[in-house]
Amino acid sequence: MDQFQSALALVVADRPDLPVHCIRPHAAQKAADWFVRRFPGDVLYAVKANPHPAILEAVYAAGVRWFDVASLPEIELVATRFEDATLAFMHPVKARSAIRRAYFDYGVRIFSLDSREELAKIVEETGGAKDLHLITRLAVCSDYAQHKLGGKFGASGVEAVELLREARGVADELGVSFHVGSQCMRPEAWRVAMAHVGDLIREAGVTVDIVDVGGGFPVAYPGLTPPPLEDYMVEIEAAFEEMPVLENADLWCEPGRALCAEAGSHVARVELRKGDALYLNDGAYGALFDAAHDGLVYPVKLLREKGSPRRPLRPFKLYGPTCDSIDAMEGPFMLPADVSEGDYIEVGMTGAYGSALATKFNGFGDYIEAEVADAPMTTVFEAPKPQIAEVIAIGDF
Ligand SMILES: Cc1ncc(COP(=O)(O)O)c(C=O)c1O
Repeated sequence: MDQFQSALALVVADRPDLPVHCIRPHAAQKAADWFVRRFPGDVLYAVKANPHPAILEAVYAAGVRWFDVASLPEIELVATRFEDATLAFMHPVKARSAIRRAYFDYGVRIFSLDSREELAKIVEETGGAKDLHLITRLAVCSDYAQHKLGGKFGASGVEAVELLREARGVADELGVSFHVGSQCMRPEAWRVAMAHVGDLIREAGVTVDIVDVGGGFPVAYPGLTPPPLEDYMVEIEAAFEEMPVLENADLWCEPGRALCAEAGSHVARVELRKGDALYLNDGAYGALFDAAHDGLVYPVKLLREKGSPRRPLRPFKLYGPTCDSIDAMEGPFMLPADVSEGDYIEVGMTGAYGSALATKFNGFGDYIEAEVADAPMTTVFEAPKPQIAEVIAIGDF
């Protein structure tokens, strides 16, 4: 992978025809290092957020040895790269063949489930194994999160209580997990969720060995500056103390976004301007899925050489390259008023759920990859408070 000081340096050198995925392994390493040092338990990297090898290497270099994987390809990716990795198969619905191969070929012992049916599948496909760590995914409130994950997975009510009892009967270790939703802006979401999970455990009357508080830890985007991450750790540690679990129970978290969002940005070229709309060569079917489907506003930067005249900023809407009209990102994205065809724009904070979600729709979806050395556009990993560069008009070079 080519290396540059910044996205601007890359654009000046190459004037790329394809969009560019800029990777900052140093930012992923810094984020992972923060979690390893500050989270009061074990940190599992949620590979789905960004499975790029450079990101995996960066979180590993920071000391992360546990990985939350959701599919056989993710298992293969991590297992073949890191011999000493512990893999947790955290998708609550798995193909039987994937359970089998995970257990027998890759030594996976940690499996998530949220139904009796899935529990039966795991027991059957592992030949009634006696060394299973079964993590029961429970439904919790995700009202505090930007991206809600409550609809699809998680057992609740009587069903949850019965499932906990049933899983306890076959598990070597029993765990509980939940996900408060991605980009969760309120630390107390964990306190509320953990109290609720505690109630379910009491009702079930089971002993619990593992509490997995999921992902959902936020980073900073324009208009979405979270409280200090330290506040999240304080809430989680206090809530864990109150839970009716074994005294030596393990505490896990599974951050995705927080470990890799700052580690990526994307460079797109303006192919056409129509008033306040910019038509780019990257979009909703590419790395900007969340900007289209979740209304996420990424920070943007016009990449022009130092010394270019500075213009006032104005709001723009972005369109991606495909023919689909949902390939549109409302923003507003603040850019210099004179942005025009042929200009390059850097979209920051796309390291999580950016390239990981890109498709080949309409024949697009190819990227140049480059490693860049400069700092991410925003960061939550620098004391004392998250800083957000709301808009940066012209990059420095
Ligand atoms: C089971 C599980 N764990 C962790 C994550 C990572 O979440 P986030 O990126 O919000 O930290 C996800 C995201 O979908 C998930 O489904």
